[in-house]
Amino acid sequence: MRFYTDRFILSPGPTEIPYRVRLAMARETTNPDLDPDFLRVYEGVRGKLRRLLEAGRSDVYVMAGEAILGLEAAIANLVRPGDRVVVVANGVFGEGFADIVRMYGGEPLLVASESWRRSVSLEELDRALEKFRDASLATLVHCDTPSALLNDLMGVAKTVKSYGVPLIVDAVSSVGGVPVDFDGWGVDLLIGGSQKVLNAPTGLTIVVLRRDLWDRIERVGYRGLYLNLKLWRDMLDGKGVFPYTMADTLVYALDEALNIVFEEGLENVYRRHRLAREASWRALEALGLESYPESLEHSSPTVTAITAPRGVDEGRLREHIWLKFGVMLAGSWGRLEGKVFRVGHMGVQASRTHLIIAYTALARGLKDLGYEVSEGKAIEAVEETFK
Ligand SMILES: Cc1ncc(COP(=O)(O)O)c(C=O)c1O
Repeated sequence: MRFYTDRFILSPGPTEIPYRVRLAMARETTNPDLDPDFLRVYEGVRGKLRRLLEAGRSDVYVMAGEAILGLEAAIANLVRPGDRVVVVANGVFGEGFADIVRMYGGEPLLVASESWRRSVSLEELDRALEKFRDASLATLVHCDTPSALLNDLMGVAKTVKSYGVPLIVDAVSSVGGVPVDFDGWGVDLLIGGSQKVLNAPTGLTIVVLRRDLWDRIERVGYRGLYLNLKLWRDMLDGKGVFPYTMADTLVYALDEALNIVFEEGLENVYRRHRLAREASWRALEALGLESYPESLEHSSPTVTAITAPRGVDEGRLREHIWLKFGVMLAGSWGRLEGKVFRVGHMGVQASRTHLIIAYTALARGLKDLGYEVSEGKAIEAVEETFK
């Protein structure tokens, strides 16, 4: 029998929202356009994000709208018709950047589109940048969530910088779980989301940008309203007002989510995510399952992608696990749909208990479908890692 309490959200975003974050949303609201206290909280959130992402010399905006809004805002403000853009396309979202570039009249130049199981090779990227000397922008996804692939952001940023080309990074599913040194690594624009590792609700996007990018933004001259970064700079930084009414309850939630991260301490948070990745890999080995990324270093500390075993209908398996045990795992998208399924270990989900629940339910689900596996070994693997 499954009861109401059997609800374990182990998907890679939206994620489980801790009680403290939910409680923050119950705070009295006023009119965020008029309330100086709200502006203070918002400015505090910007400061905390600067600290989290080591972006003290850069501009940070938190916009109402989920992460896709941030991705589109980046391209809308930086790409003019005819611009050639190097797109690292080794995953669903990596490839997805190419579509947005096309929508704004740019020409995407795909790199690494065949190797979705490993971080882009810096030599291959270097060759592409050499070949496409007229490219004026590059894009990268730090953690490509549908395949759990982790790209080497520091290495990519260094390589791209040596060609003097600005780099846009989708870090939606790594922010808060994997270190990012925005200023130090020379990233030019980075997009984060609220509903993944930070364990806040869906509905906010984080945009961080290097100040010298404003010249290009002026030259591109994007004329739209909702995605217009210049409006944020001119109104918020210039006059202390928002371009449109902010979703104050979501900002309170994000503020509390960031407090939780800093209370635990960044080093501890990152270590816990690395342990969650290792525990997952060891549990998969104990269950005779295969990770989709080729090796541990190419796999994100925030999510594990599992190749569906031959003959297993992964959709049926996940449905069974949800209905019987109340454990929510995720499938994948695009060319990986039906072939890969995932366990999210983002924020509070990156814990010994969550992973024991995840891999026990997975083992029991496989058993129910007729596969011989031992959940005991998977539990031991998780426990050993977190010892
Ligand atoms: C890497 C990456 N970028 C962007 C997004 C888009 O985020 P949203 O959930 O806001 O649509 C996702 C969501 O899965 C993601 O994983």
